[in-house]
Parts: sequence; structure tokens; C-alpha cells
Amino acid sequence: MPSEFSRIHYEEVTSTNDLCKEEHKKSSTITVITADKQTQGRGRSNKAWASPKGNVSFSFGFTSSGLIDGLSVKAGLTVAKTISKSLRRPVQLKWPNDLIFESKKVGGILVEAENVEEKFILVIGIGINFSIVPKEGHWGDLNIDNYELKEKFISELIKNLLKDIVDDPSPDWHREWNEYCVHLNQEVELENNEAYVFKGVNNLGRMIGEKSSQTYEISESSLKVKGLY
Ligand code: BTN
Repeated sequence: MPSEFSRIHYEEVTSTNDLCKEEHKKSSTITVITADKQTQGRGRSNKAWASPKGNVSFSFGFTSSGLIDGLSVKAGLTVAKTISKSLRRPVQLKWPNDLIFESKKVGGILVEAENVEEKFILVIGIGINFSIVPKEGHWGDLNIDNYELKEKFISELIKNLLKDIVDDPSPDWHREWNEYCVHLNQEVELENNEAYVFKGVNNLGRMIGEKSSQTYEISESSLKVKGLY
């Protein structure tokens, strides 16, 4: 297992994903960037991501020979497992990669890739609301305001990302993802308003939806799920 990585922590950055990409270009070592606060944090679909002090802003960058199917979905599983085990908060997953606690979104993942010569720099950006609930009412937090616990969690997360993502892409990870899913076998609605019963993800991280006894593979969308934020 490759255990070498370098980590730099900042009080304030624009986006940890940007710094991670830049830092990783300088050395081939796996790069971890963390920050107390981001001023230009970004989420999926070009949305701004609020990152006040107290939360976790974390990016993990590595080089790969190609893009990795389902990387953000798979990384979500690693984050949910790490939170559940090391922080004792039973976090669940909403496809594709929202972290849910007590029916509210407490975190998300943004994977970005940059092609450099024959290879790709892949950056897994992870934002988790530890103790600050941003203004919008649908957001939640883990209600943890403890520096040592946060540092212990970050160490575990790095170890688990090295194991699950860089070291061993287990072909069966999606079965475990389905166990963590908050809406398995429930009706979900895609961005285009089509409704399906969510039957799980496959090993490419794609959603398997069922409609009128037919199954469909869906690779990209956000979901609306009854009872969730
Ligand atoms: C989402 O929209 O759900 C994904 C949010 C991802 C936010 C994280 S915080 C660390 C990293 N830096 C960013 O600018 N975004 C990601």
C-alpha cells in the first residue's frame, strides 16, 4: 500500500482543490490539502460551497494513468464509513455523493481532473459540516466542535482513501455503497423530473433505476428524494 503523502494545512485558501492541483504538479507524491476556511469553495454543478471555519475542507490529489469511473461515488463510501466509524455518526449516502445525517446534507464531494501530458491529476475534494450550519435551512452538521477529534478523523480519512482508492479498487465496493444508501428501493426523481425506483449503484458508480419493470443505468443527475432536505 502506498503510504507516502504530503499534507499542507492552511488557515484560509480560495479552494483546497485548486491548491491541491497546483501542489501536486510540483511533486508526484500524493497531496493532501486542508484548510480552516475557503473563500471560493465550489460544489457540483458550479454551485458555491460555503466553507466557514469549523467545517472540514479537504482535498486529496494523486496521479492516475486514466480517469476512474465512479470515483466520486466510491470516495463518498469511504468518507461515510470513516465518519460512521471514527466519529460515531451514522452517516448515509444519497446518490451520487451527498453525505446525509438526520435527513440533512452534511457534506459533499467534488472530483476534478486535469490532463497533464499522458496522465491525469485527480483531485477528490471533500467538504463536511462539522459544527457550523450554513444559512440555508436544509443543511445540517455533525455537531462536532473538537479539534483533536477532527484531526484524528482527517488522519483516518487519508489512510482509508489510500487503501480504498489508490491501493485497491475492490470490484465489490458498490454492494457496500448500497448498504449505506439512504434511499435504496425508494422512488427518486431525476433533474429532468423522471421518476424511478432506486435499485442501487453498479461498479461504475451509475444509478440503477427501475420503471415499469425495466431497469435503466443513469450516469449523471442530482436526485430529489421524499423526506430528505
Ligand atoms: C457538492 O456540491 O456536494 C460537493 C461539495 C464539495 C466541496 C469541497 S470542500 C473541499 C473542496 N474544495 C472545493 O472548492 N470544493 C471541495
